[in-house]
Amino acid sequence: MGSHQPLRGAVLGLGMMGRHHARILQSHPAMRLTGAVDPGGDRHGTLRDPALLHATVAGLLAAPGGPPDFAVVAVPTEEHLTAVRELAAAGVHVLVEKPVAATTEQARAVIDLVRAAGVRAAVGHVERCNPALVDLRRRVQAGQLGEVFVVATERVGPFPDRVRDIGVVKDLATHDLDLVRWLGGSPVQRVAAETQHRMGREHEDLVLVTGRLEGGVAFSSVVDWLSPTKVRRTRVLGERGMLVADTLTADLTFYENGQVATTGWPAMQAMRGVAEGDMTRYALTRREPLVVELEAFCALVAGDPGAATVTLEEGLETVAVAEAVLASAATGETVALAPAAA
Ligand SMILES: NC(=O)c1ccc[n+]([C@@H]2O[C@H](COP(=O)([O-])OP(=O)(O)OC[C@H]3O[C@@H](n4cnc5c(N)ncnc54)[C@H](O)[C@@H]3O)[C@@H](O)[C@H]2O)c1
Repeated sequence: MGSHQPLRGAVLGLGMMGRHHARILQSHPAMRLTGAVDPGGDRHGTLRDPALLHATVAGLLAAPGGPPDFAVVAVPTEEHLTAVRELAAAGVHVLVEKPVAATTEQARAVIDLVRAAGVRAAVGHVERCNPALVDLRRRVQAGQLGEVFVVATERVGPFPDRVRDIGVVKDLATHDLDLVRWLGGSPVQRVAAETQHRMGREHEDLVLVTGRLEGGVAFSSVVDWLSPTKVRRTRVLGERGMLVADTLTADLTFYENGQVATTGWPAMQAMRGVAEGDMTRYALTRREPLVVELEAFCALVAGDPGAATVTLEEGLETVAVAEAVLASAATGETVALAPAAA
C-alpha cells in the first residue's frame, strides 16, 4: 500500500454492522469510502455523501472511478455468498462479516469463488481485535497460566431488534466458537449442546454448549438473546490462575492462585485445592476493535503476509462447529467434528 494512497473501500449493507464499517472508512486516513450498496437506502444516515449510495452491486461496480479496491460484506448472512460472487468476479477484495456464510456448503462456495478470482479475503471475527482478548491470548501463549484447563465464554443479552435470518447459534455464538479455538490453541474436537426457542421465532434463541478441543482443553459457551442484561465475558482457567476478559469494557483481570509455601509434605500438597491469591486488572491501550480489524484487512490487501486477519478457512471451521452444535441439540448426542482438514 502506498503510504499516501488511501485504499478505496465500499460497504455492502448499511445496517447495524455496515454503518460502523462505513463510519470508519469515512474517517480513517488510510481508507476512503468510495461507495455503498443497500436496497433499503441509508436508513441510519451513515453516508456523508448521499451520492455514494447504490441500490445494487452492479451499480457500485459501474460507478465513475471504477470498482473499489475492497468491499466489506455486511448484508444478512444468507446473502454473503451472492455478494461475494459479484465482488470477486470484478476483482474486488472482500472482508466478509462473520459468520462467513449461513452453511458450510455456502462457506465452501465462498472459498472456491475467492480462490478462482485470486482476490484477497478475510472474515470479520472482530472479537479477535478486542484489546482485552488480544492481551489475554498473549498472556496465555507466554505461559502465564501454565497449562490451560478451560475456556468459558458467556455472551447473553436482550434480542437486538432486527430481522434475523439465522438463530443465535450461527449469529452470536459463532463469536464464541471462534474464540474458544483461538484462545485454547487447537480445533474443536466435539460438542454437546442444548438450545431453547422462547421468542416464537423460527430459530433457537438460547444455546448452552460444552465441548473439548483437540489439545485437551475443555470449553463451554452460554449464549442467548433472552437475558435482561448484556454480558460479554471470556475466562481462561489454568494451573496458575484465571484470566477474565470483559469485552464490553475491554477489561482484563488476572486472578492468581494463592501462593502457599511448599511444606515438603507431598501427600498434603496433592490434596490441597487452589487458594485465592492476588487480583490484578491490567491497564490496556484500548483501540476500537473494528478499526484494528479494518487496518489488518487493508494490510492484507496491500500484500502483508503477516496481516492478523481471520481466514475464510477458519470462518468455515467455525460454521462447521456451529452446525455440530445444532446437530447435538437436535439429537441429544455428543457430536464429533472431522479432524481439521488441510
Ligand atoms: N462482527 C460483529 O460483531 C457483527 C455484529 C452484528 C452483525 N454482524 C454480521 O453483519 C451482517 C449484517 O448484520 P446486521 O446486524 O448489520 O444486519 P441488518 O439487518 O441490521 O443490516 C443488513 C443491511 O443489509 C441490507 N441488505 C440486504 N440485502 C442486501 C443486498 N443484497 N445488498 C446490499 N445490502 C443489502 C439491508 O437493507 C440492511 O440495511 C451479518 O452477517 C451479521 O452476522 C456482525
